[in-house]
Amino acid sequence: MMIKRLFPIIIAFTLFSCNQKKETTEDIKEKGNQLAIEINNHSYGNVDKISTNHLHLELNVDFDNKTLKGVARHNMDNKGVEKAVFDIKKLNIEKVTLGNPENEKETTFSIGKYDSLLGSPLIVDISKEDENINIYYSTAKDADALDWLDAELTGSKKHPYLYTQGQAILTRSWIPVQDTPGNRFTYSADLKVPSELLALMSATNPTEKNETGEYHFEMKQPIPSYLLALTVGELEYRRLSDNSGVYAEPHLIEVAKEEFKDIPKMIDAAEALYGKYLWDVYDVIVLPYSFPFGGMENPRLTFLTPTLIAGDGSLVSTIAHELAHSWSGNLVTNASWEDFWLNEGFTVYFENRIMEEVYGKEVANMLAIIEFQELENTIQELNTQDRERDTHLKLNLDDRDPDDGMTDVAYVKGAFFLKTLEEKVGREDFDKFINGYFNAHKFETLTTEDFVKYLKTNLLTPLNVDFNTDEWIYGAGIPENTIRIESKRFEIVQELAKGITEGKALPKNLKRGDKITQEWLAFIRAFNGGLSKEVMTAIDQQLNFKNSGNSEIMSEWYVLGIKNDYTEIRPEIKAFLKKVGRRKYLEPLYITLAGTKETLEWAKDVYKEARPYYHAVSFNTIDKILGVNQ
Ligand code: BES
Ligand code: ZN
Repeated sequence: MMIKRLFPIIIAFTLFSCNQKKETTEDIKEKGNQLAIEINNHSYGNVDKISTNHLHLELNVDFDNKTLKGVARHNMDNKGVEKAVFDIKKLNIEKVTLGNPENEKETTFSIGKYDSLLGSPLIVDISKEDENINIYYSTAKDADALDWLDAELTGSKKHPYLYTQGQAILTRSWIPVQDTPGNRFTYSADLKVPSELLALMSATNPTEKNETGEYHFEMKQPIPSYLLALTVGELEYRRLSDNSGVYAEPHLIEVAKEEFKDIPKMIDAAEALYGKYLWDVYDVIVLPYSFPFGGMENPRLTFLTPTLIAGDGSLVSTIAHELAHSWSGNLVTNASWEDFWLNEGFTVYFENRIMEEVYGKEVANMLAIIEFQELENTIQELNTQDRERDTHLKLNLDDRDPDDGMTDVAYVKGAFFLKTLEEKVGREDFDKFINGYFNAHKFETLTTEDFVKYLKTNLLTPLNVDFNTDEWIYGAGIPENTIRIESKRFEIVQELAKGITEGKALPKNLKRGDKITQEWLAFIRAFNGGLSKEVMTAIDQQLNFKNSGNSEIMSEWYVLGIKNDYTEIRPEIKAFLKKVGRRKYLEPLYITLAGTKETLEWAKDVYKEARPYYHAVSFNTIDKILGVNQ
């Protein structure tokens, strides 16, 4: 395990809270003033001196008070230090003890100044021999990671719901933990939830609820803290194969099972490419609409947005993506958020290979072109914002929110780097190399530099290949030698769009079901932002994009509609914004709405109603776009 520290930041701080046992408040204040806590990889954790090997959680899930309350028992590898530093964010720390549960002794601790991005350091006093630290705590009502949904916001409207989102640095708002991807640990948990609900974690899971509401979980493979996850709700399970299945609320379970029936095929394809699936079970859960992402690769239990349910299985590439993370990300993990492309670039590349295997080259190519268009837009946008530095694969996130680096650059430039390499050395050698890479570094964390070294030693030098690796990783924009992908089916829809721009009517017999989602996206994008509202109305009459039930098409169509004053679809846009909390859709819609004074006012009105439906990840982003609640 190697954690590279390029620019450690040292801060000194004053204490504002402490537990006094042996020392007086004044003593601790004095000590606190002298303490210097380092921030590495967005964490206060002193993992190079003491780090968690195993975490055991005992938590009560209290829906009435919207809090988790209990104890986090850390078994740690102590290299002989007298302080253990954890990350916490808005947690209420009741007490800290040392030793085994049978023999716990209370100890002193202090909490550093609160930072709105990083939270606070929790500094626990220990002896050089101490290995077991037990932190008794409860979460805040507005914990960033937690989305507590009242019953009205769930499918059945009968029971409340809770889910967590840890990546990138939100786990510290529900568990006191050294919250850096540079450290891995195993975990177990004992949870108590209301007996009418089922609890699931990124661990061994029940498939049915029991009468006591008590559940035990085990994650035997070591994981980084951002992959700790929990969800509690009225949930059912359907098996898809021996080692895969779907969880969802009762009203969605059958459609979800049908929509995602190809999961077993995807697992087979992935294993054939890069080796055995090492997490035993691959289940997915369809979360409520507020879930801010398309998917989240929580080990053994991928979290999914319900917007993937399009009725025709056309949005399953997100599942291929999250499954691919079982290798790239969960097995081989980025050491810091500056190396985020190691997680996402590899995953987008791998996702595309799974899609090619299961659905054919033509579909995989269309997906890749759609992504490349998005990358080009993102790079243009970053350049106009003077953020050329963020078009590098290796990022610099000193003093910045890791979210700033979570752009298409890490995802798509990363994937195109690997695609271009593959083309250069040939698929056979490249597959061997990637296989070897996952195998050599499984259950480790890696920096970009570790990867570059591995690439040179195991691929470029043995094959005697010259490649502009440094330009791809440390340079701006998209290098000249990037692979170009073409699609005949895209050319057809682009021609169709061109005809319409020139005044031709849509072919009368054309139906939406004639083409797949990506073809329609390419069609909508071919108008380059311009299309009269009369023509948009005509297209909607024939193809019904505005109510298509396909969230990819709807969001793309709504953005075009806002740009072209197609105000007739405002009711549909409003309904969408009040239902869907996925940031990928919300962001472009609100940004476009913020473009004129009139649409901005309208957006603010809608947002007032819609904001309670969003997770903190999404509403924090939208607050900034609209300049509200800050
Ligand atoms: N791990 C990410 C989601 C994420 C990234 C959460 C950074 C928090 C911080 C997940 O695998 C992902 O990339 N989701 C995408 C899916 C898409 C690229 C297929 C999404 O949500 O849109
Ligand atoms: Zn991902």
